[in-house]
Amino acid sequence: MKNRMVVGRYMLFAVSLVCITGVYGCGSPQHPSDNKYSQGVSKEMTNGEQLYKRYCSRCHSLGPPPKFGPPVKGIAIHYREAFADKKEAVEHMVAFMQKPDAAMSKCRPEAIERFGLMPAMNLPEEKLRAVSDWFWEQFDPELKRRHDSGHHHH
Ligand code: HEC
Repeated sequence: MKNRMVVGRYMLFAVSLVCITGVYGCGSPQHPSDNKYSQGVSKEMTNGEQLYKRYCSRCHSLGPPPKFGPPVKGIAIHYREAFADKKEAVEHMVAFMQKPDAAMSKCRPEAIERFGLMPAMNLPEEKLRAVSDWFWEQFDPELKRRHDSGHHHH
């Protein structure tokens, strides 16, 4: 009887130790000097193509035909028409993905009529920026030529 209580107390002690170290182990994720965190994920953070494949490609094909949203190359055309500066375009895409809004769209209104509004992307801003940068870089002058001269299917 007495032994079981002692064991019980040790267990309690062990459990609370785990809790304490657990709390300290996690730390605060937003801590700016927490390099271990950013180093571990930095590769994926900055690889736009990988991010695209993982989070966007199920809806956005690279070129036509579209899946559930406009193809990346089409988006790149519209963003290069709307913005002269890549940085501005990227910031706009990031803001759009955080809170999609038809009034903010740089695609044709038909795109939203056809596909509906895009769902918000719940990703860290750094990832959104990296993947937006990649979207911008997928601009294809040949496709733009056809896009400008041909019929608009989207
Ligand atoms: C569930 C489907 C879906 C996913 C996943 C998705 N999108 Fe979209 N996206 C859409 C649809 C639909 C539209 C067209 C309507 C609109 O503009 O909101 C769109 C439009 C866009 C636009 C154009 C916004 C504008 O100006 O109108 C950008 C930029 C974009 N997506 C980027 C991304 C990126 C980057 C990802 C991955 C991180 C992503 N999307 C993931 C469905 C999706």
